[in-house]
Amino acid sequence: MEKHTLEVLISYDQIIERVKLLAETITKDFEGEELLVVGVLKGAWIFMADLVKYIDLPMEISFVSVSSYAGARTTSSGVVRLLCDVDRPVEKRNVILVEDIIDTGLTINYLKRLFSVRNPNSLKICSLLDKPSRRLADINPDYCGFSIPDEFVVGYGLDYNGYYRNLKDISILKINA
Ligand code: IMP
Ligand code: MG
Repeated sequence: MEKHTLEVLISYDQIIERVKLLAETITKDFEGEELLVVGVLKGAWIFMADLVKYIDLPMEISFVSVSSYAGARTTSSGVVRLLCDVDRPVEKRNVILVEDIIDTGLTINYLKRLFSVRNPNSLKICSLLDKPSRRLADINPDYCGFSIPDEFVVGYGLDYNGYYRNLKDISILKINA
């Protein structure tokens, strides 16, 4: 049986402070425009819910669902599958893709390509977390909450094998065999 230890890396208060700043920047960058904010399920759901509350612009929201990790693993399979597509048109819209974390970059790279061929007016990536040390695809977020070291993190929407998404803080997960 696996034993897990959690160590807080970023507290909820720190997250919210940063989320407000990201929302302010997005509000300024898109002044006078409308947004289509697209969350990447499931990881981005809590981040997106907090982010949109502080963006002072007219917007629609939608979601995509992808899977790239299988079962109890902490490394990407590298194979991205689209499980559920957006329910709104993308053409001529200012699209912001909202992710929980960019690790290898393969997931967001796949989504960026998928959305760019649909002729949006603009397409930006907003990720709460970034693990730049593990990048395989040549892609970086336009808006980023925190750059973190190469550790597996859970909480605030991020999971390990489906669990821990409900934790308020972002914590490093250590697996002890
Ligand atoms: P990438 O395709 O390697 O960039 O991985 C992106 C996806 O992997 C994210 O949307 C997360 O769902 C998941 N992921 C990557 N690193 C972590 C982590 O440290 N904790 C939880 N999920 C992670
Ligand atoms: Mg995810």
